[in-house]
Amino acid sequence: MRTAQHTVTRDWRVATAPGGLPLVGHAPQLARRPLAFLASLPAHGDLLELRLGPRRVHLPLHPELVQQVLLNGRVYDSGGPVKDKARQILGNGLITAGRADHRRQRRLVQPAFHPARIEGYAEVARHECAAVAGSWSTGRAVDVGREMQTLTTRITARALFTTDMAPHAVAEVQHCLRTVVRGAYHRAIDPTGLVARLPLAANRAFATALTRLHRRIDRLIADYRATGGDRGDLLSALFAARDEETGERLSEREIHDQVLTLLLAGIETTAAALTWTWFLLGRDPAAEAALHAEVDAVVGGRTPAFADVPRLVHTQRVFTEALRLFPPAWIITRTTTEGTELAGRWLPPGSDVLISPYVLHRDARTFPRPETFDPDRWLPERAGEVTRGSYLPFGAGSRKCLGDVFGMTEAVLALATVAGRWRLRPVPGARVRPRPQMSLTPGPLAMVPEPR
Ligand code: HEM
Repeated sequence: MRTAQHTVTRDWRVATAPGGLPLVGHAPQLARRPLAFLASLPAHGDLLELRLGPRRVHLPLHPELVQQVLLNGRVYDSGGPVKDKARQILGNGLITAGRADHRRQRRLVQPAFHPARIEGYAEVARHECAAVAGSWSTGRAVDVGREMQTLTTRITARALFTTDMAPHAVAEVQHCLRTVVRGAYHRAIDPTGLVARLPLAANRAFATALTRLHRRIDRLIADYRATGGDRGDLLSALFAARDEETGERLSEREIHDQVLTLLLAGIETTAAALTWTWFLLGRDPAAEAALHAEVDAVVGGRTPAFADVPRLVHTQRVFTEALRLFPPAWIITRTTTEGTELAGRWLPPGSDVLISPYVLHRDARTFPRPETFDPDRWLPERAGEVTRGSYLPFGAGSRKCLGDVFGMTEAVLALATVAGRWRLRPVPGARVRPRPQMSLTPGPLAMVPEPR
């Protein structure tokens, strides 16, 4: 008997995306209005081909095809021109390493994210969340985007290095990271590679910021070397890591590259997701009231702690739903290491594959009323309808986000701490436009804290 699964596999709709222009192909649409363009594509097929100048890019839009790509890291590796450029900036860390090296690195870095360690990082998060919530005044508008970025920079920096980083050092890391992330994105999307070589002020600022970050990391590593021991932070875990099979350790250069990778991977993503969450809650009094009710019941007037996180189930659903509507990692790229077939289409070695969690998360076939912010769609009895490969805020497979549990813990603590104390009101007339850059961010978001 032929199962539904087989029918789907046979009848894949494979097509070229509409609207491509001679020579440039779909590059103008992707550059000018990437989200609207990508969101229009599922109607045209399960696997679409886009042209970006001379390059062809394959976009799987059906969850089953997405799974085939992400779960087969041997054939669909992280690579291509974007990763080559990222390697020049990040060195050879988890995000940029090719498959063979990635497996070894991942084995070594993974213990730093062991649940027992996350409890320690959560303690850091707890204090930082309380400090940020305590710094606001009634009625005085704050830029929530900036506040969340300060918060996640402080948490990540202090989880990495327990050494109390002076406020000016944290501010430097935050400033430099912003400049590096922006510059890295502009380099990634420039197919000519020319922009980075022009004598522009932005390029000088990028180079200075990157040098300062490298120096700061070198100083922190030297400081650790001088004292040694396990201080419970991420850096100690990286120094302690030993491959059980080979006995090998991470070299000092590799530790440096992992630290930069973790700063870049962990700060902007979590800050963007938290900012989107406040934006969504600000427009939805019922969802906000449900969050307040849970926080009051579980936490009362205390500062939320790690032990509260498993009980803050509605808070987790709120964040999960914000990640659905605005996944910071709005695209994920892969490159084929060998010729392979996808949906019956032959992809030669070196083919680029693009996966867009943003598009998958707004597919009405999986998420009814996809534009609606509905945290309760993640209630256990309803969440079962979400098929594998449809919801990928943290990716999937061998390159799935290593900081997913840490990021979730940090976010739940931040939401519960702020919501226990403040109601964040949108500033009337303030407009938010999603900015699809390295992360999908809302940019500045002015909101007014009102005491609860
Ligand atoms: C809400 C917050 C976060 C989101 C949405 C997010 C999303 C992602 C996604 C989608 C990937 C996979 C990229 C790919 O497949 O190419 C990834 C990888 C990664 N993330 Fe996260 N991330 C978040 C927070 C964090 C945090 C807090 C850290 C650590 C401090 C972190 C560290 C990493 C690392 C190291 C990788 C590379 C993993 C590997 O290739 O083995 N992330 N993240």
